Amino acid sequence: MQAGPTILFVGDVVGGLGRRTLLALLPGLRERHGADFVVVNGENVAGGLGITPKLADELFAAGVDVITLGNHTYRRAEIVPYLDSGRPIVRPANYLATQPGRGSVVVERGGVRLGVVNLSGNVHLRAGRVAFLEIDQVLGELEGQADHVLVDFHAEVTSEKVAMGWYLDGRVTAMVGTHTHVPTADARVLPGGTAYITDVGMTGPRGGVIGVKKEQSIASLRTHMNVHFETSEDDPWLMGVVIRAAGRPRRAVAIEQVLEPWRPGPPAAARS
Ligand SMILES: [Fe+2]
Ligand SMILES: [Fe+2]
Repeated sequence: MQAGPTILFVGDVVGGLGRRTLLALLPGLRERHGADFVVVNGENVAGGLGITPKLADELFAAGVDVITLGNHTYRRAEIVPYLDSGRPIVRPANYLATQPGRGSVVVERGGVRLGVVNLSGNVHLRAGRVAFLEIDQVLGELEGQADHVLVDFHAEVTSEKVAMGWYLDGRVTAMVGTHTHVPTADARVLPGGTAYITDVGMTGPRGGVIGVKKEQSIASLRTHMNVHFETSEDDPWLMGVVIRAAGRPRRAVAIEQVLEPWRPGPPAAARS
């Protein structure tokens, strides 16, 4: 049987450090895993909250095929027209129809069409429509339009993501969870052939609290006072998954976690 494409999915890229980590590690990862498609969750790229057109352009220029988003989609007003510009950037499909952007996109490489769907959980997150109903609609629209489908389910609660994995098993190539910024140890191909992980984790400072400087997070929790949060610069890691699609449509043969530290060299000026 002919093998399907390999997809590298990278979890929420947080701030400048996350961006630098992604840009530094992406070429090597791409080559090592033979990735045909690269999909990146970019909802935290701009200083930890949202994304701007300039930063999205930077990710696309680095070889990212599709950017997915989440609850921080609209944090930066300047991204709004960009979401409707036809570029391969998607916000949760189950948002209100009146909210800018679209929830799915199809990209093509080497004659293979990959559909990417972004979806938001309904538990502890604000999404206008029910994810479990919306996905049926979106998959119906993608029927005949995509050889493989990847769903980024951006959700807070593990049970909601586990349930979605079972609901989509045998219907999509992969369902990957995002949003919590903490990778889970349950990556596997479900019995129906769908690659699954509850949360991919994040790309950026592992030395903070899901991206924020740890001292500030702890101070907030200790004092119950307003604390200004900044993005941590401590201990950058890239977290993602590599999905090997099957030769037959919308099925996977393997999913493997990528958890990789980035050790940047000294600045150019410091080198002798
Ligand atoms: Fe995030
Ligand atoms: Fe999020």
